[in-house]
Amino acid sequence: MKVLVTGGAGFIGTHIIVCLLERGHDVHVLDDFSNSSEKALKRVKNITGKFIRFTKGSILDGALLSYLFANESFDSVIHLAAFKAVGESSTNPLKYYENNVVGTLVLSRAMKNFGVKRLIFSSSATVYGDGVQMPLTESSCVQDPTNPYGRTKLMMEQILTDLAKSDPSWDITVLRYFNPVGAHSSGLIGEDPNGIPNNLMPFVSQVAVGKRDKVSVFGNDYDTPDGTGVRDYIHIEDLALGHVKALEKQNSDQRGSSRNIKIYNLGTGRGYSVLEVIEAFSRASGKKIPYEIVKRRPGDVAKCWADPSKSELELGWKATRDLIQMCRDAWNWQVNNPEGYE
Ligand code: WQD
Repeated sequence: MKVLVTGGAGFIGTHIIVCLLERGHDVHVLDDFSNSSEKALKRVKNITGKFIRFTKGSILDGALLSYLFANESFDSVIHLAAFKAVGESSTNPLKYYENNVVGTLVLSRAMKNFGVKRLIFSSSATVYGDGVQMPLTESSCVQDPTNPYGRTKLMMEQILTDLAKSDPSWDITVLRYFNPVGAHSSGLIGEDPNGIPNNLMPFVSQVAVGKRDKVSVFGNDYDTPDGTGVRDYIHIEDLALGHVKALEKQNSDQRGSSRNIKIYNLGTGRGYSVLEVIEAFSRASGKKIPYEIVKRRPGDVAKCWADPSKSELELGWKATRDLIQMCRDAWNWQVNNPEGYE
């Protein structure tokens, strides 16, 4: 299949395009490189031996999208392009609503105008908000996410739900990510956060390599076994395969068979605490990882992990890599790329 991948040069996007290319699909990347590097696409070529066609640009650029759809015959779109820093979304919400929500509207309009109506949409477990019974199933109540970033994801899910209801020729799959971590086993692509990492695993990795002094553990007074936050970490290569499985299922489904979007959790079904992640990373890297318990981070939930059984049943997909493998691959990327893609 020929697939447009928006945000394809990012941490998640590069791993998905490696998987797509290795399974014989044809890929075109659209990325504004605001939080990614063109160098990452060169690394994808090193891994797959295939040149990646890409266009530098924003999903807000309707004229560019029309040009792309007019000149390429895409079968489907995997839509990853979004700003995703939870903290920044609270200090600069307009930036997030414009890019994430308006960008998705502009993209959807271009798809409709050119009759491209198969979409895989990148969503997030953040839409489940707080206080929902674990494990989370796709029918778990999505309530008010705890931050504007999560609200953009929920709004986009609602927009796509209405779009699918309005026209059965749309085939829309929503993938709710839990916590993607790790790196490609080759060590050539991985997570390359700008500045100080917001997320736990890349921060722990930078402490292990000596780039940061210690991990600040955001609270140890949660209602969890050791008091620290519990999350469902999923290896980025498992997450990438989940997208390709969803794409291939869409291709095999009968068109116009439903007016409903399909929603799937991409998680392992296993939660680990912050202290368990630190311990696992120390074992994987052979490094001591100093940490300090500090106050909670606003907007954090105590626990969040998936029931992935629907994805296993309907997509024929199951995460296979465990936490120690996630840490080993993250460490391998860190050691081989101390300055990321530079
Ligand atoms: C994990 C745990 C923190 C950093 C967010 C987004 C989600 C997705 C993944 C985009 C929590 C604790 C963290 C640190 C810590 N992003 N922590 N010290 O918040 O579960 O999810 O990132 O798609 O949408 O919401 O991930 O890695 O930031 O935090 O103690 O320096 O680690 O409190 O318990 P989170 P995270």
